[in-house]
Amino acid sequence: MKITVNCAMSADGKIALNSRKQTAISNDLDKRRVHELRNSVDAILVGIGTVLTDDPKLTVNTEYVANPSNPIRIVLDSRGRTPPDAKVLDDQAQTIIITSEECVKEFPNAKTIRSGVGRVDLHRALPILEGMGIGSILVEGGAEVIWSFLKSRLADEMHIFIGSLIIGGDEAPTPAGGEGASSIEDTVELELRNAEVMGDGILLQYEVVK
Ligand SMILES: NC(=O)c1ccc[n+]([C@@H]2O[C@H](COP(=O)([O-])OP(=O)(O)OC[C@H]3O[C@@H](n4cnc5c(N)ncnc54)[C@H](OP(=O)(O)O)[C@@H]3O)[C@@H](O)[C@H]2O)c1
Repeated sequence: MKITVNCAMSADGKIALNSRKQTAISNDLDKRRVHELRNSVDAILVGIGTVLTDDPKLTVNTEYVANPSNPIRIVLDSRGRTPPDAKVLDDQAQTIIITSEECVKEFPNAKTIRSGVGRVDLHRALPILEGMGIGSILVEGGAEVIWSFLKSRLADEMHIFIGSLIIGGDEAPTPAGGEGASSIEDTVELELRNAEVMGDGILLQYEVVK
C-alpha cells in the first residue's frame, strides 16, 4: 500500500491557530495540487481531532478536478466520537470509521472497522483496508495521526506546503504532534525529493527513510 502524508504549514511551522482552529495556509496552486492528489488515491484519512475541530468534507472539489472520483474517506476514531452530523458522513463519498475493538458505536452512511485495544492499531487496520481494495491512502492530518504514520514508518512520502504567513504561539499544532521523539533514535529521517516554489509558497516533497 502506498501512503502519502500531506499538510500545509505556516513559515513558522504551524498547521493551525493556537486555538487549534483551522486557518487559510494554502494558496490556490496548492489547493489544486491537493485536490488532484486526493483524486489520484483510493482513500483520504484523518484523525478524529481533525473531524472535531475542522469538520472537513474530504471530497474532491470540482473547481479543481472535473468529474472527480471522490475517494473513500477514513477516520481514525478509537472511541467513536464522530458526530452523526459530521460532513464526512454525508452522501458525497463512502466513509469508513475505524474504532478500537471495544467501541460498539455505528455511524450513519459509514462502514465501521474495529482494530486495536484502546486505540486504533494501524498495523492491523491497514491490511483490512488493503483487503477492501484500498491500495493508496492520502493522510491529511492532523498532527497526532501524522506522527503515528511517520513513527511507525508506515508513510512512504511526506508533502509539506509552506504558506507565507506566521501563526506563532506555543500551542499551535505542528505537522507532527503526539509524543514526538525523545531521543535521536526516535526521530524520523526524510530524504528530500523535490523543493518547488508554488506562487507565494513552497512545496517540499520527501521520501520517508524506512
Ligand atoms: N494544515 C493542515 O494541513 C492540517 C490538516 C489537517 C488538520 N490540521 C489541524 O490539525 C489539528 C488536529 O490534529 P490533532 O493532532 O489534534 O488530531 P488528529 O491527528 O486529527 O486526531 C488525533 C486523534 O486520532 C485518534 N486516533 C486513533 N487512532 C490513532 C492512531 N493510531 N494514531 C494517532 N491518533 C489516533 C486519537 O483519538 P482517539 O484516541 O479518541 O481515537 C487521537 O487523539 C487541528 O488543529 C487541525 O486544524 C491541519
